[in-house]
Amino acid sequence: MRATVEELSAKRPVPKAGEDVVCLEGLYKSFGPLKVFDGIDLKFRYDQTTVVLGRSGTGKSVLLKHIIGLMKPDAGRVVVFGRDLQELDQAELENLRLRFGMLFQSSALFDSMDVNANVGFLLYEHTNLSEAEIRKIVREKLDMVGLKDVENRMPEELSGGMKKRVALARAIAMDPQIILYDEPTTGLDPVTADSINDLIVKMHKQLRNTSIVVTHDIVSTFKIAHRIVMLHEGKIILDETPEGVRNSTDPRVQSFIRGDASLEAVAAKKTGEEK
Ligand SMILES: Nc1ncnc2c1ncn2[C@@H]1O[C@H](COP(=O)(O)OP(=O)(O)OP(=O)(O)O)[C@@H](O)[C@H]1O
Ligand SMILES: [Mg+2]
Repeated sequence: MRATVEELSAKRPVPKAGEDVVCLEGLYKSFGPLKVFDGIDLKFRYDQTTVVLGRSGTGKSVLLKHIIGLMKPDAGRVVVFGRDLQELDQAELENLRLRFGMLFQSSALFDSMDVNANVGFLLYEHTNLSEAEIRKIVREKLDMVGLKDVENRMPEELSGGMKKRVALARAIAMDPQIILYDEPTTGLDPVTADSINDLIVKMHKQLRNTSIVVTHDIVSTFKIAHRIVMLHEGKIILDETPEGVRNSTDPRVQSFIRGDASLEAVAAKKTGEEK
């Protein structure tokens, strides 16, 4: 049985501000000999935007895939809204995913569908709303991301920045309580990137949800984050407020935020000496 968005929303308990809605507990994950997570414990609170920093290949996208249940840990638990993902059957997992919005690294729009069908995809799939009602919601979501009169365009007719906005409109179509952003500003010019940052802040103010953003964009990080964590060699080496990050004396953190590899070499040497 399909339901309206209101009915779907009514079934969702609204977490309290500050409540932990995503808990990663003792997470281990390897691909063959490559150890990506080496014991990760991390909680994400409601009504907060957390940025996960880390160099390319450290496992940021893999982390998001664990949170949404697309990948399973070798050991440890992923608990979302109090439910251990491993204990859910497929139908329960799909229901839980409706409380998520995900902005993929590549935007991942469906090339053969126009903007309306892309943004309204989950509404067409999971609700009994009429065509007219869905089109109205699609227009509202496009309006939230600053786009007008693009419903009939195909993805190939959009610029990179517009694609990101459409993908964001699609991510918020079902009023998600958790939004996952994978590199939302990568590949965009600085002005367009900044407009996406503004949108992330605006989305958070309007929807008051949990936002988890993975990126290596430092400018973006300081603009949107309430909290910053850093993934490095399978572990969380930083969990701070933006102010705390600016003041961090850890060379691995400073190297990352200044884009200076020589500081990291100092850190590696120090670690070697300690061993
Ligand atoms: N399905 C998979 N099979 C095998 N290895 C994988 C798989 N997915 C990811 N990896 C490996 O895990 C590591 C982490 O990948 P991930 O995509 O999470 O990196 P990332 O931090 O998101 O990097 P980037 O900033 O470049 O997007 C990489 O070395 C990658 O090659
Ligand atoms: Mg990635």
